[in-house]
Amino acid sequence: MDGVTKRYGEVTALDGVSLDVRRGEFFGVLGPNGAGKTTLVEIVGGMREADAGTVTVFGQSPWPRDTALLARIGVQTQASAFFARLTAREHLRTVAALYGMDPATATTALERVSLTEKADARVDHLSGGQRQRLAVATALLHEPDLIFLDEPTAALDPEARRELWVVLRSLRAEGRTIIYTTHYLEEAEALCDRVAIIAGGRVVALDTPRNLIRSLAAPTRLLVPAAGLSTDAALALAGVDRATVEGDDLALETTVPNRVLPALGDLVDIDTVTVRTPTLEDAYLTLTGTGSEHHR
Ligand SMILES: Nc1ncnc2c1ncn2[C@@H]1O[C@H](COP(=O)(O)OP(=O)(O)O)[C@@H](O)[C@H]1O
Ligand SMILES: [Mg+2]
Repeated sequence: MDGVTKRYGEVTALDGVSLDVRRGEFFGVLGPNGAGKTTLVEIVGGMREADAGTVTVFGQSPWPRDTALLARIGVQTQASAFFARLTAREHLRTVAALYGMDPATATTALERVSLTEKADARVDHLSGGQRQRLAVATALLHEPDLIFLDEPTAALDPEARRELWVVLRSLRAEGRTIIYTTHYLEEAEALCDRVAIIAGGRVVALDTPRNLIRSLAAPTRLLVPAAGLSTDAALALAGVDRATVEGDDLALETTVPNRVLPALGDLVDIDTVTVRTPTLEDAYLTLTGTGSEHHR
């Protein structure tokens, strides 16, 4: 997409967004509420028209809607609709029938999202996590090459989120292209090949989670029991920039942990050392301008 802009009255939801998603990529769109994530998904998925800019999906414009293109796209939206009184399997069979597909695809889809056990449970009796997995199964039924998932893990408890991650990783392993929105940073870090961070309708960063973290140049912190190492001995190690006592620990800051750790292992039992690497959260807070106080 290139220079895509979308306004709703006074609100500019997207303000000249340009980005490319590669085939087979698990692409994260990360941003706070109101950043424009859903609008982006809706425009690329052909559910909404952009005011300006160009969007190309598999070489074609998603707007006006094109049935050949729709067959290659699967969408799970934030407000996925279900046939609530049906069972999970019946719901999927109904959707399969709408697409003119073999009802047996329902069984396969249930397996793929680990819902086989709940096949005969009514949709309105499923837990939040199970419902989200059913929504993902619905988006997958017709074997799309490109899948949009708009905050599928919002409002899920940590265990349900992890279960969904397993499903998402398997989709990625199948080589499908996935565009995934979330406001959970650790999720983007755990799942995505690349991440676009959007804030106020603009892309403020686009890179691999690793590079985003690295571009911060935030130090890695190595925590060593203070009883085992003096500040002077720590500062004498090549690559240690700072050493401060924090409670029972001595905290060493370094940008070259791989060099410091072996030398540190000569001085203390390496199993007592805790490594705290900077996270995507650090990068995110810096980039969205809310974090300057956070890790100084
Ligand atoms: N249908 C709509 N009508 C009016 N304003 C909207 C509509 N959809 C979204 N917005 C506004 O556009 C901005 C971006 O919204 P959205 O794309 O839903 O962001 P996100 O998904 O990142 O939370 C927000 O300020 C939101 O209030
Ligand atoms: Mg949204």
